[in-house]
Amino acid sequence: MIMQSSAPAKIILCGEHAVVYDSPAIAIPVSELKTIAKLEEADDHFKIILENTQETLTESDRHPFIYLVKEMYNSSRLPKIQISVVSTIPISSGLGSGASVASAIALLLGQVLCFDYAQINEFVFHAEKHFHGQPSGIDNTVIVYQKPVYFRRNQPMTFIEAHTTLHFLIADTGTPAPTKQAVALVRSLYEADRVGVPQILARITDLVERARIQISDGNLSELGKILTENHGQLQQLSLSTPLLDQLVNVSLEHGALGAKLSGGGMGGNMIALVQPQEIEPVRKAMLDAGAKNVYHTKLEGRINDYAH
Ligand code: PMV
Repeated sequence: MIMQSSAPAKIILCGEHAVVYDSPAIAIPVSELKTIAKLEEADDHFKIILENTQETLTESDRHPFIYLVKEMYNSSRLPKIQISVVSTIPISSGLGSGASVASAIALLLGQVLCFDYAQINEFVFHAEKHFHGQPSGIDNTVIVYQKPVYFRRNQPMTFIEAHTTLHFLIADTGTPAPTKQAVALVRSLYEADRVGVPQILARITDLVERARIQISDGNLSELGKILTENHGQLQQLSLSTPLLDQLVNVSLEHGALGAKLSGGGMGGNMIALVQPQEIEPVRKAMLDAGAKNVYHTKLEGRINDYAH
C-alpha cells in the first residue's frame, strides 16, 4: 500500500502581523513549490524520513511532526509505517515550509484516519504552535485548504476568488525570516506605544479590506497600490530590511503594479504584483538587486473558468 499527499507553499498578500492582533489578512497557496509525503508499511517501527535534510524521526523523538502524528493517532504508540517527505520549498523564507510539511503529513494521515479538512487544519495548527509559539493560524489554513483565504483569527474563514488572474513574483532574499523574533518585535512596539501602533494596525486592516474588494473586482492597478502602501506600514513597524526595500523599489521601477515584503519580514521574501509582460524584466531586476531566487506564481481568476 502506498499513499501520497501534497501540500503547497504560501505567501501572505497583505495583513501579516496585524493578523496576530485579530485583524484580517489575505494569503494564497503557491502550488509551484510543494511538499510531497508518501506512506508505506514499515518492517520495524514508525518513522518519518525527511529526505531534504536526510533526517529520520522515530516515535521517541521530541519533534513537532512526531507530536502531530501522535495527536492524530491519539496515542503515543504508533503503527509500523514509514512516511517519506520531500519538499521544494526553501526553509525559513516565509513561504510556509514547516506548515507545508506538517500539512502534507496530516493530509496523508487524514486519509487513513478519516479526518476532514477542519480537523486536519486544527492538528496542523497545534504543530505550528510547537514551531512558532503563538501563530495566528493563517499559514496552516491556506496550506491545508490549498485555496486563497481571507483570514481572521477565531472567525470562520472565507475563501476568496479573483476576478482576473493575478501574477506574482516572489523574491527570496536568502536571509532567514525570524518570524518569532519579528512577532516579538511588533509586540514590544505595541506595548511601548498603545496609540501609534494600533493606528498602524488599523490602517493595515483598512488596506486588507480594500485589497479584498480589488481582487474580487479585478482592479489590478488599485490592488498594486494597496500592496505597496502595506509595505510602508510594515516599514514603520521596522520589519523591512535594506534588501527588501531595494527589491520593492526595483520591482516598481521595472513595471510592477505593487510590491511589498511578505510574511514575518526582517528577511525572508517579498512579492510583486506584475502583468505577464513585466514578469521577465522584474524577475531580472530582482536577481540583479540581490534576490537569491525568484519564483512566479499565479492566482487564477474566475473569468478564466467562464471560458470553458
Ligand atoms: O510565517 P511567515 O514568516 O509568513 O509569517 C507569518 C505571518 C505573521 O503574521 C507575521 C505571523 C502569524 O502567525 O500570522
